[in-house]
Amino acid sequence: MVVDVLSGEDVVVGRKESTLREFGKRGTGFIGRVVMSKGANPVLGRRVLMDMSTSHVMLVLGKRGYGKSYTLGVILEELASLPFSVKSRTSVIVIDTVGIFWTMKVPNTPQKDLLEKWGLQPKAFDVNVLVPKSALPFYLEHEMPVDGYFAINTGDMGIEEWLGLFNLDLDSEAGALLAGAVAEAEEKGSYSVDDLIQIVRNSDAKPHIKKSVEMRLVAAKSWQLFDPNAPRVIDLVKPGAINIIDVSTFKTALGSASLREVVVAILGKRIFEERMKYRKVEEISEIREGKNISRMPLVWMIIDEAHLFMPRDRKSLSKEVLSDWIRVGRQPGLSLILATQRIDRLSDDAITQADIILGHRITSYLDIKALSAVRPTYVGESLDKSLASLPHTRGLAVLLDDVTEKLWVIRVRPRMSWHGGGSASALVKL
Ligand SMILES: Nc1ncnc2c1ncn2[C@@H]1O[C@H](COP(=O)(O)OP(=O)(O)O)[C@@H](O)[C@H]1O
Ligand SMILES: [Mg+2]
Repeated sequence: MVVDVLSGEDVVVGRKESTLREFGKRGTGFIGRVVMSKGANPVLGRRVLMDMSTSHVMLVLGKRGYGKSYTLGVILEELASLPFSVKSRTSVIVIDTVGIFWTMKVPNTPQKDLLEKWGLQPKAFDVNVLVPKSALPFYLEHEMPVDGYFAINTGDMGIEEWLGLFNLDLDSEAGALLAGAVAEAEEKGSYSVDDLIQIVRNSDAKPHIKKSVEMRLVAAKSWQLFDPNAPRVIDLVKPGAINIIDVSTFKTALGSASLREVVVAILGKRIFEERMKYRKVEEISEIREGKNISRMPLVWMIIDEAHLFMPRDRKSLSKEVLSDWIRVGRQPGLSLILATQRIDRLSDDAITQADIILGHRITSYLDIKALSAVRPTYVGESLDKSLASLPHTRGLAVLLDDVTEKLWVIRVRPRMSWHGGGSASALVKL
């Protein structure tokens, strides 16, 4: 490792030696620099580049306020800056649980001098920010730069999803009634929640069962989340598109699955199915024409506060879908970046299968234990030691790369666009 550092070359994480030889550094993103000395303001060395051309499962960990969301922003900026040949094969979806990534549209001008030292400049990014329909008037009134509202096309919902949404079982009378209504509505083609309500009202089920299903659907209508005219998931993941879905105001509704989870589950499931299909089309064109021609890009899903969607200790719609992404996503080209401050609450699947781990300050004994318990032997104790000895400076992190089997201490680079995660404070400058 010492020789690597002295050679002055870039460090490339997540990319195989053979790919590096064939394609060089094309399709990588500049995320930081290697830390060369101890202390809060260390000497910085080689650039750290991350592979963005193939599928990865990446974890971004650390205590609250030490740079997880900031790092996600850096990675997003790099995905947005990929050269056309790679970007046009890539599509990004961000599940924004706090509603902070819209600030990517604003350049980080106050840090112009700092950015220059890093060889960078303030920059605004062309991202598509979608907010819940109910929150849209508020955003527009406050002149926030949003691009529209997010809703799920009812065509992307199946019987399973409707049942899951209301925690209903097909074996129950209410579940059977709802499933029947969905099947009938689907026959019509496009349908609204109102159509489902009508079908339930007209059914000959027992009155109290009808009432209970109807009330659930009436509640679902009020969420304004299901819309027969909304874009289909497949139309959202266009080549080169970066969609930021603000789920911060999707609350848990009484008696139903968390709406945020439903959003992730539907997106994840439909993208998974489509990518599986298109991968076959790509393989055929590789065999016939010797090159990979496809209309559907590889997809990156970036999820902040990921323990909400992949909880360790309970069943969840989104967990099942994301576990599929993690287990078999490599083949169809699906990547996940999960950030959390609660490693001990995150599903083991995510921890064991991650191939890039970026750990900001981690102090909780439970978190270090959860992480060390599942890490490969080649890092052994050095991971715990590196995490424990990381100075308090925000933006410093331990980077673990399974592809090269190396551990680095790095400083994440400053943001080119505005970071929206600053804490609220009652203090005002006088
Ligand atoms: N790489 C970095 N360089 C400079 N400042 C950073 C960096 N990472 C985080 N910070 C600072 O730390 C604050 C908290 O970071 P944030 O990413 O919002 O924390 P969290 O881990 O809770 O998501 C940011 O508002 C920013 O000021
Ligand atoms: Mg955060």
